[in-house]
Amino acid sequence: MKFLIYFFLLATSFAFFASGKDALDWWQTTVLYQVYPRSFKDSDGNGVGDLKGITQKLDHLKDAGIGALWLSPIFTSPGVDFGYDISNYTQIDPLFGTIEDLRELKSAAEKLGLKLLLDLVPNHVSNESEWFKKSVQKIDPYTDYFVWVDPKKDENGTRQPPNNWLSDFGGSAWEWREERQQYYLHQFAVQQADLNYRNKHVVQEIKDVMRYWLDQGMDGFRVDAVTFLFEDEQLRDEPLSGDPGAEPTDQSYLKHVYTQNQPATFDMVQQWRALLDEYSSKDHSTRVMFTEAYADLDNTFKYYGTKERPGAHFTFNFFVIEYIKNTSTADDYENITSLWLKNIPAGDWPNWVVGNHDQHRVASRVGPGLVDAMNALALLMPGTAVTYNGEEIGMEDTFISWNQTVDPQGLNAGPQRYQLFSRDPERTPFQWDNTTSAGFSTSNTTWLPVNSNYKWLNLQKQQEDEDSHYKVYKQLVQLRKTKTIQRGTTHTAAVTQQVFAFVRALDGEVTYIVAMNVGNSSATVDLTRSFSGLPATATVVVASVGSTLVRGTNQTTSALTLAAKGFVALEGRT
Ligand code: GLC
Repeated sequence: MKFLIYFFLLATSFAFFASGKDALDWWQTTVLYQVYPRSFKDSDGNGVGDLKGITQKLDHLKDAGIGALWLSPIFTSPGVDFGYDISNYTQIDPLFGTIEDLRELKSAAEKLGLKLLLDLVPNHVSNESEWFKKSVQKIDPYTDYFVWVDPKKDENGTRQPPNNWLSDFGGSAWEWREERQQYYLHQFAVQQADLNYRNKHVVQEIKDVMRYWLDQGMDGFRVDAVTFLFEDEQLRDEPLSGDPGAEPTDQSYLKHVYTQNQPATFDMVQQWRALLDEYSSKDHSTRVMFTEAYADLDNTFKYYGTKERPGAHFTFNFFVIEYIKNTSTADDYENITSLWLKNIPAGDWPNWVVGNHDQHRVASRVGPGLVDAMNALALLMPGTAVTYNGEEIGMEDTFISWNQTVDPQGLNAGPQRYQLFSRDPERTPFQWDNTTSAGFSTSNTTWLPVNSNYKWLNLQKQQEDEDSHYKVYKQLVQLRKTKTIQRGTTHTAAVTQQVFAFVRALDGEVTYIVAMNVGNSSATVDLTRSFSGLPATATVVVASVGSTLVRGTNQTTSALTLAAKGFVALEGRT
């Protein structure tokens, strides 16, 4: 107790689990790993990753210490948005394999003690789905499965979309269909038609899809684009955002008060949670739901639901991704981590995400020097850690020319602006070794080019090297197994402009002190000025690649020297 009070006085302090004697559930202590199936491992040499490939590489996840994986969509799809435009929710796209391949993957994962989650994409389906085709023809019950609206006429009598809503991929969110003489809503690509959640059949269909996959033994879902489920019934125009960098066709040009985070959305998430809980209670193995919501803090937390009516097990914490840049100072790190920790409602479970298939690689966004520090942040902060495939070895964005661009978000932006929007750079194949196509495929050509740095940046090399991002990653994952990291209090501080640090402590257990120098020059800091009650010396347990802070050596906490971009985790007793 003395310890806690000391910390409270000097650093920002969070005590989620200090008193928690309850057992933690599998999804709380695990590392959740995102597999982007097209780019993970190609088993049949066609240049695109597949389910058999994932099964072949499960040992890697086990070796890294990961406990659960989620797969970006593997269902039948024309592939306009690479699987996020689903035409049949309960069939596997032949590109990825068969239902048997998924069953094999599931049973291989189970043998290794890995949980398997699928991506549920409830907001929209492909315009090539039977649902959409029948809806266009007004065949019941599909007639109102989508958001169909009559046109507006301007003063010249010319047909206009019903309002100013914009698509996330640029341009109007409305597309005209001659056959129906109506517009349909698409908040993403034209080929991704928004489902109408005010239609009770749609609500039932998606619940049936969830049941279908839960009956196949899946452990839960990552839920895609959940903020977009419902829209304003009055179809009101959205106000301008005032963002000076936004073109009138960019989604960021408007403030999404009528198309995102509508009250009914939270209720739907709570209904889905009830369905999952029904399965969980049957065999006492928790089926989980993690929601993807790029939202402000208030709305982000609303997806968790309430104590009486829970929603998501967690909604991804995208604040580090959104606000930490290569120019960020220690204060920025302090602000962004404590923003989440200070505001998360009591009883809700935190999580840390540093990368995904929609965001530039950590090495390119924050800088190659901070790869280890960012992994340490995600893995040692309280809560679940989420890793996007390739971040464990510090993969970098790949330059993709306009001619090579395939991402619809990039394509819609045109040759001049595509790099501002394209997500291709972070989606290139996983770099397993230095053989053909980085060991991803036997084919020389792959759906997106392999990064030319694979010769020296690959998993095999990092397994062999004494000191590598992967070795650091594995050590960090091991630290998560300690009681302190799983349950300890958290104290964060910007020690100087350059050094951000946090301390994880638990009565009767070892204390961990994590310090990262986000600046461009080496720095010597006195951690005891920010955190009282620290031991005078502590032992290095993990340090960034190339660090002179050798594992097992003792360091003085009042004079700790960190190289530029270096990070260290120290273990001590108070
Ligand atoms: C989510 C996915 C993204 C996709 C979009 C539309 O944001 O992560 O990749 O393009 O939803 O489904």
